[in-house]
Amino acid sequence: MIINARAYAKINWLLEVGSLREDGYHELSTLFQTIDLYDELTFSLAKDVSLKIIDPNFSANLPIDNKNLVIKAANLLASELDRKQGVSIELKKSIPLGGGLGGGSADAAITLLALNQLWKANLSQEKLLSLAAMLGSDVPFFILGGTAWGKGRGIDIAPQQDLDAPYLLLVNPRQEVATSRVYSEFDRLTNKGQMSTLATYFFTSTETLFAKIKNSLSPMAKAICPQIATIETKLTELGAKAVLMSGSGATVWAAFPSALLLEQAFETLNKCEWLVIKSRTISRNEYQQNILKVISEK
Ligand code: C5P
Repeated sequence: MIINARAYAKINWLLEVGSLREDGYHELSTLFQTIDLYDELTFSLAKDVSLKIIDPNFSANLPIDNKNLVIKAANLLASELDRKQGVSIELKKSIPLGGGLGGGSADAAITLLALNQLWKANLSQEKLLSLAAMLGSDVPFFILGGTAWGKGRGIDIAPQQDLDAPYLLLVNPRQEVATSRVYSEFDRLTNKGQMSTLATYFFTSTETLFAKIKNSLSPMAKAICPQIATIETKLTELGAKAVLMSGSGATVWAAFPSALLLEQAFETLNKCEWLVIKSRTISRNEYQQNILKVISEK
């Protein structure tokens, strides 16, 4: 059997960080959203587990051994099944690395979903969510996709009504920002994050959402990478109605009110040294329909 898969990226519509927990993670309240930017993966039955990265731009920076979340996901599922399983995986990256768009986490979640089918494991969604949580704080969200809250460490996922933003622009300063470094800065500057109770909202439209957007990690990421602030200012000047850094940075997302303004902003910013990508939201339904395609049953 051969499966072709798409691992869609995410943005955080909102990210509030609370106190440091005993397990070393922080309490979070975040609203995740899948977007139209994806890595492509192919899974073919094989004797052993192996990974090939087929994009030369990325292969130099990505491990293909057990340090890669894709291999970790495959090994985790095999050990859960307690039987010898093999798969040959090809990965074509498009999601920028270390950019706050969840690329590695998406690849890992899609690997769990694809191998559940390829290896005829038949694990429940609940089981897949718990395996995903062992791989990283963002991974469980990608089992569901669409618009969803992440609470606790980020792994308690509560789907909410899909929010729709058709004219999104992503701007990445081409500088990786390490998540753990941003969180350390957060602890240093906020006295280990001992602060407010984290809010919960139920948004029915992006208009109400955009009035509430915030990312607690922005000041820390901007101290490490000042270009984030420059990008935000430019996007606002170009007519975006909402602008925010995604995750722990360094990518900034902007929602534009029209295709025309989106196109103009793309043309202007694409002349800079930054990586600029046009995108849109992907609903849970579209996500579930497009992530896996069996292309050969043999
Ligand atoms: O879970 P994950 O491996 O993706 O987390 C990467 C790093 O981000 C952690 O090592 C930690 O420094 C930070 N983190 C955190 N609290 C969270 C999620 C991530 O402190 N809820």
